[in-house]
Amino acid sequence: MTATVTVTGAAGQIGYALLFRIASGAMLGEVPVRLRLLEVPQAVGAAEGTAMELADAAFPLLESVDVFDDADAAFEGAQLALLVGARPRTAGMERADLLTANAGIFGPQGRAINDHASDDVRVLVVGNPANTNALIAAAHAPDVPAERFTAMTRLDHNRGLAQLATRLDVGVDRLSRMTIWGNHSSTQVPDPSQLLLDGEPIALDDAWVAEEFVPTVVNRGAAIIAARGASSAASAASAAIDHMRDWVEDTAPGDWVSAALPSRGEYGVPEGLVCSFPVTGADGAWRVVEGLELPPAVRAGLAATVVELEAERDAVRALGLLPQ
Ligand code: NAD
Ligand code: LMR
Repeated sequence: MTATVTVTGAAGQIGYALLFRIASGAMLGEVPVRLRLLEVPQAVGAAEGTAMELADAAFPLLESVDVFDDADAAFEGAQLALLVGARPRTAGMERADLLTANAGIFGPQGRAINDHASDDVRVLVVGNPANTNALIAAAHAPDVPAERFTAMTRLDHNRGLAQLATRLDVGVDRLSRMTIWGNHSSTQVPDPSQLLLDGEPIALDDAWVAEEFVPTVVNRGAAIIAARGASSAASAASAAIDHMRDWVEDTAPGDWVSAALPSRGEYGVPEGLVCSFPVTGADGAWRVVEGLELPPAVRAGLAATVVELEAERDAVRALGLLPQ
């Protein structure tokens, strides 16, 4: 069986890191892949260049690469869709402008997925503001179950694991059960309160968690931009691979990861908001890990990040960008 994978923003910096890993089998294992790349017309030439390089890498699993500037064509038959292309915030842009510009991208792409993708399509939104872009895309795809639209908080999750591994001087593979709650923004809530080391609970210093761990994870995206002069790309691509692989192939037994999914009311998060939760992947579906006892600081943080998600949703709705 061959998998059809559509990637938007294919000529961008995440796209450049992501496509070669998908083609190498890092995302789906030994499954042949057909890549369908979507770009804006002015970047189609650059995407064609990347397609030439993909051919030159002679990946045994890469069956074909096609480049499109039309969403309907790009999502034709897509089983996995990675929505990376987005409109970045530029100088002088208000929040409403940013939401409007991105709704102009994610609304039509949601509709194209609805009309052209495979029945089993799974969507990961990477382009920011990722949670609300996923909400917009899902709202324009009434025939696709809403839970197939997810947004990426796996990079924040991986950042958290890396900080914890350094602090504890252990490999990341010995740690499990960390969570990112909420929005992929500065209101996200990194939560190591359930952390296990080699499957056993491990107590962390509360002051270190509050004063160092949480701010480091929350501000890591901005720190990368300050250091690199560009936002994270290879680590974002790697997180996208992790998200899709765990969705398709299941998460490790006894562990969970973080992903933003449309809420079904878990932990009091209003239904429909695309919110990051602790999740397990099994049988091709994400399940929110329920029943965790949240420390007061995490509960307060979750309430605040939900307020931000509601404000984004309400702004999009007020601008008439969600179908009635
Ligand atoms: P980039 O500017 O290098 O590339 C974006 C690409 O998207 C460009 O080639 C652009 O032409 C394309 N594009 C724009 N509109 C499009 C459309 N309508 N259809 C198809 N393609 C379109 O940006 P990047 O560094 O690759 O980052 C992409 C997005 O990912 C940004 O929004 C960034 O903020 C976000 N991001 C998210 C996370 C996360 O953890 N969720 C992490 C890093 C970056
Ligand atoms: C990140 O977390 O690295 C990015 O979302 C930052 C950004 O604004 O692109």
